[in-house]
Amino acid sequence: MKNIFKNTIINKISKIAVENNFDVFLVGGYVRDRILELPSTDIDFMVLGDATEFAESAAKQLKTNLDAVYKKFGTALINYKEYKLEFSSARKESYKKDSRKPKIEFSNLEDDLSRRDFTINALAVPLSNPEKIIDLFDGLKDIEKKVIRTPLDPERTFDDDPLRIMRAIRFASQLEFQIEPETFSAINKMAYRLKEDKVVSQERITNELILILKSKKPSIGLDLMYLSGVMDYVFPEISTMAGVDQTSAYHHKDVFHHTLQVVDNTAKISDDIWLRFAALVHDIAKPKTKRFVEGTGWTFHGHSEIGARMIKKIFNNLKLPLNKLNYVEKLIRLHLRPIPLSEEGVTDSAIRRLAAEAGEELPDLMKLCRADITSKNPEKMKRFIANYDKIEKRILEVQEKDDLRNFQSPVRGEEIMEICNLHPSKAVGTIKKAIEEAILEGIIPNEYDAAKEYLYKIKDDILNNIK
Ligand code: CTP
Repeated sequence: MKNIFKNTIINKISKIAVENNFDVFLVGGYVRDRILELPSTDIDFMVLGDATEFAESAAKQLKTNLDAVYKKFGTALINYKEYKLEFSSARKESYKKDSRKPKIEFSNLEDDLSRRDFTINALAVPLSNPEKIIDLFDGLKDIEKKVIRTPLDPERTFDDDPLRIMRAIRFASQLEFQIEPETFSAINKMAYRLKEDKVVSQERITNELILILKSKKPSIGLDLMYLSGVMDYVFPEISTMAGVDQTSAYHHKDVFHHTLQVVDNTAKISDDIWLRFAALVHDIAKPKTKRFVEGTGWTFHGHSEIGARMIKKIFNNLKLPLNKLNYVEKLIRLHLRPIPLSEEGVTDSAIRRLAAEAGEELPDLMKLCRADITSKNPEKMKRFIANYDKIEKRILEVQEKDDLRNFQSPVRGEEIMEICNLHPSKAVGTIKKAIEEAILEGIIPNEYDAAKEYLYKIKDDILNNIK
């Protein structure tokens, strides 16, 4: 059987390790992902001794360059073909309480593995013997049981690097694993450290949130963030949606649980994380706008507009890329607008106005609207879906008509002048317009012969009226 830890690049590095007399191990996410049969091109190598020295030899023999070297941390990076090869010296690492900057001491394999975040990431495979997986913390069993657990006391592991609180939830969401109860309690207890000054940068926290949104079912991670109290620190506007009741034809759950379902629904139909993010925040202003109206129940007047106005601050707080702000803002602002357009008697211009406002975001807006249907009642589901089908059909029809508006009468100005015996004048334009309108209204087909025949029919009336 082919060893899962052998491929061309790993074979090359193994050879280089033997030739240069270094003990080198595969570690981290690559080992985990190969066991889980997930694709991975980021390969972490742990080196006993100075990894930067080994990486230099490796780069030379691979006829490439080192892309980064951090002598002080004993790490180096080589981008080679599709691979990102990261070399780190086996080390003991202790973080100062008030800083992410670790104090590094080179050490042995056991120390290195025990300072890692989770047992599933603390496996090592010696390049000298890739048949043997070194598993000091039962990581293989945890992979099999689908469990996220820290190798040491969880409070110590999270204290060393509080970002691991987000990583635990992100791995649970990405891999659909459970967080072991003691690890979960520690997350709950230590969540506040994510927001302590200068401990974890906002960019790293947001990166994990985005990875959660990228999971197949983002609600797993989002719900864990809420249940563990992490959401209160990282994204409090989402936490406040929990417990906000809503009773209406469209919704039956509290706003937070409804939102989770909408996010999952968008994830089913699109890989675009900004559509998923828009789903996460589409009802963000509901807690603020909630009013109880006798006989109607809870109302949330203006929540789409107020939500759209809240989003800039959220983008700034989370340090999200500002080039996505308009997109998210627009989707929040417009997410209720399509609903009444399925009613009888809606004019083309109402449809046209929405299409113009949504612009190129119209298809995503319709995706969000469809994802927003979370009713458990199959009859209602059917009706709402049919309404959106109807609206989308109308939009297409209007767009087709609008495409026609840019067209020219099949009988051109020159010919109109010749047939009607006219010089260039306003009358020519009036006749041409009348032919075009007749086509748009469906009175005649958009064809030359029909247009010419129609011209003969209307010309005298029009010319008499103009005189
Ligand atoms: N690691 C850690 N604590 C962190 C970050 C990383 O202990 N805060 C360790 C883990 O052993 C991890 C390895 O460093 O497996 C590599 O880190 P990274 O590349 O960030 O994560 P991966 O596990 O490879 O997973 P992914 O690529 O999905 O982030």
